[in-house]
Amino acid sequence: MIAGGLKRLFLWLEALLDKAFGSRWNPLYQLGALGFFYYWIVAVSGIYLYIFFDTGTTEAYNSVESLTREQWYLGGVMRSLHRYASDGMVLMMLVHMLREFAYGRFRGPRWFTWTTGFPVLVLVFVAGISGYWLVWDTLAQYIAVATSEWLDWLGIFGTPIARNFLTPLSLDDRFFTLMMFVHIVIPLLLLLVLWIHLLRVSRPQINPSRGLAFGTFVMLLVLSLVQPAVSHDPANLASIPQRLELDWYYLSAYPLMDLLSYGGVWALAATVTCVLVLLPWLPPRFRAMPAEVHLAACNGCARCVSDCPYEAILMRPRSDGLPFDSEAVVDPDLCLACGICAGACPTATPFRRKSDLIAGIELPDDFSMASLRARIETACQGDGDRPRIAVFGCNHGIAATRLSQRGYAVVTQPCIAGFPPSFIDFVLSRDLADGVVITGCRAGNCEHRFGVDWTEARIAGLRDPYLRKRVPRDRILLHWAAAGDEAAFVTAIDRFAESLSDRPLTPSSTAHEKEARGQTRREKSHA
Ligand code: HEM
Ligand code: SF4
Ligand code: SF4
Repeated sequence: MIAGGLKRLFLWLEALLDKAFGSRWNPLYQLGALGFFYYWIVAVSGIYLYIFFDTGTTEAYNSVESLTREQWYLGGVMRSLHRYASDGMVLMMLVHMLREFAYGRFRGPRWFTWTTGFPVLVLVFVAGISGYWLVWDTLAQYIAVATSEWLDWLGIFGTPIARNFLTPLSLDDRFFTLMMFVHIVIPLLLLLVLWIHLLRVSRPQINPSRGLAFGTFVMLLVLSLVQPAVSHDPANLASIPQRLELDWYYLSAYPLMDLLSYGGVWALAATVTCVLVLLPWLPPRFRAMPAEVHLAACNGCARCVSDCPYEAILMRPRSDGLPFDSEAVVDPDLCLACGICAGACPTATPFRRKSDLIAGIELPDDFSMASLRARIETACQGDGDRPRIAVFGCNHGIAATRLSQRGYAVVTQPCIAGFPPSFIDFVLSRDLADGVVITGCRAGNCEHRFGVDWTEARIAGLRDPYLRKRVPRDRILLHWAAAGDEAAFVTAIDRFAESLSDRPLTPSSTAHEKEARGQTRREKSHA
């Protein structure tokens, strides 16, 4: 229920941002990539700050102050960029997590990417909070005391850490060297964990589109000039800090420590972490059957490997004596059953009649290529009074099946790229329909990452297997949509049907096709 409400909210926001910026610049479609972008800004500005930072109880504060005031045009801007990009990283990370949760992208084989997100989350917070300590102002003092008391509550440290902050004399310069070390090593570790986070995501998008990156950087720069990051008063362990301005991105847990006690915050953190980490194993379970390889049909071309969005296929040396170098193998633990591999396989062609239609790789049962062809043939047996439209849809975009009530022949697969382009050719050249509508998730938000991109590229002839040139493109409508876009979708498809109603067969149709078309119409009128 929570996820359903959140999903609707994201769909609504995404539609709004699509209208404002277009899908290529929609930040909600590139949250992970933006996270990386912020990381690099933090890293570069951090290197600059490091050059001028002095470790020491008074030197630390003074060096940051002089950088901020005397070198405001560069050092000050760098400090602000460092602060605001770190905040941006937290924001991107939390919204990214919320969004993956809302879309249910943590189930089945996605458990790995979801779960490895949590060490990322912890490391980002540790890195950020350790940065606040380094300034050694009253805010740093407040965080240092509260954090050490919070850690001491566990009772696992021999000497309580909080003792370091009892009096001005109990703190020495080594503390700053240690914090500096933590503040450098943790971000490096973060990069390693991010690499692990993306191990099961093929071709991860780790850079935002240029326009989005440019806009984000300009926004940070303007913010840095208008509202430069500044320090509080210098820390003084002899007194208790009074008025503090918290950075809510990193420090919102601190007021909770006063509200709930240290034990309460530990209990809350442990409960939330356990629930979120265990989420992939809570019902409803992921049950889809993985793709299967039929060796007798596989020629080792590796197109399925390059199109799989989840690194679930690899090529290995041929094991069955057929004269090819390699064969495809699916790892069922990584396969999300999207069927994109079948859409890429050159052997998945519906024109095969002599032998059974068995593709080199395909989903089993209802989503196999033979079943797909049979479902299309059945769905297209409508009357021929008005333009007949075959709708190829997916299980995640708009509820295309509702269109069958309007007389359209609707067939769906788990992902739109699970339709090999030859099926479009099949429908039009065999005159099963006058036009084909291809619909899947909104561009930029494909449930299976590449479904929309691969489909567009295959139809445009930019990616194998491409749609043959002879197929009349004016009989194909591509329309990407999600729940909530029904009205626009119905209008587009009705307009498309209208445009077909008085259109003659295109010159690309062969005499044989025209003959076949006449025959099919005749067969129907006899029936
Ligand atoms: C700064 C922190 C993070 C960064 C930079 C980051 C980056 C990314 C990137 C680049 C992708 C691939 C997107 C694509 O190309 O489709 C991704 C996917 C994913 N991330 Fe993160 N991530 C971060 C934190 C998290 C966290 C905290 C979680 C959740 C606990 C999470 C969960 C996921 C999931 C589930 C996917 C897979 C989506 C799919 O399979 O389609 N990430 N992340
Ligand atoms: S795309 Fe088909 S033929 Fe090519 S390697 Fe994969 S299964 Fe084999
Ligand atoms: S069904 Fe999807 S996830 Fe599974 S092997 Fe094929 S392309 Fe990869």
